[in-house]
Amino acid sequence: MLVTGSEILQDAHKNGYAVGAFNINNMEIIQAIIEAAEETRSPVILQASQGGIKYAGIEYISALAKVAAERSTVPVAVHLDHGTDFVQVVKCIRYGFTSVMVDASKYPLEENIAMTNKVIEIAHAVDVSVEAELGKIGGTEDHIKVDEREATMTNVDEAVRFVEETGVDSLAIAVGTAHGVYKGKPELDFDRIKAIKEKTNIPLVLHGSSGVAYEDLEKAVSLGINKINIDTDVRMAFADAIKDFLKDNIDEIDPRKILKPARANMSQVVAEKMRVFGSAGRA
Ligand code: G3H
Ligand code: ZN
Repeated sequence: MLVTGSEILQDAHKNGYAVGAFNINNMEIIQAIIEAAEETRSPVILQASQGGIKYAGIEYISALAKVAAERSTVPVAVHLDHGTDFVQVVKCIRYGFTSVMVDASKYPLEENIAMTNKVIEIAHAVDVSVEAELGKIGGTEDHIKVDEREATMTNVDEAVRFVEETGVDSLAIAVGTAHGVYKGKPELDFDRIKAIKEKTNIPLVLHGSSGVAYEDLEKAVSLGINKINIDTDVRMAFADAIKDFLKDNIDEIDPRKILKPARANMSQVVAEKMRVFGSAGRA
């Protein structure tokens, strides 16, 4: 069933677990995620980035995601990931997304608050949930020196002010993770997660969660993370299965035969994550 982001995240916040938010670009990825959610009886968030929307087209991706949500027997939210463009955010609301992320994290605090409030006014008028970002969650390719690390992390006092002045539904925080494939082991700032949770008491979001050790993710969840974003690990499951299949079947031309093992592999990876995040059995 199609639900708002808040319906899913409020339950996770109250009961101390996290829900996976997996990036979608095509039908097979959506089907793989929904299959895993059904199998593990887990609520789930299907999220499309601005790049994903550009690739598939907003009509296609919103229609595919909504059909998947409406046909499923578990709660599913359809979410815009990293909405940096105001027009794109509003378009997603018009196309039936039940949750949007407004990402104004590159701006100074006041501007971030102002842009977030602009989106909240529109989104909340039509019962769409809003996630914002505070701090800078970079890519693994961004080389940040140890002494600069602190500056990129979410400041606890700023988080309190941000939540008070916006009333945002959930907050993405920078606590040591990054987007993409890690070169070394990511070091999460668990004390920071704990402090932000205690002082804001709202659902918190962890981005760049692919490649993070499961024990670290479990600890992050126990300290207050309620939404875990995964893209890279699903991409890898997709690509690995296709490479594997074509290695033994180089003459195969049927897209269904090539994509079927990829869909199955992605579903397995997603189901495993749902068990780790604690969302399995919650639907
Ligand atoms: O917003 C999307 C995520 O933060 C995905 O990050 O590709 O490192 O899993 P990831
Ligand atoms: Zn992200």
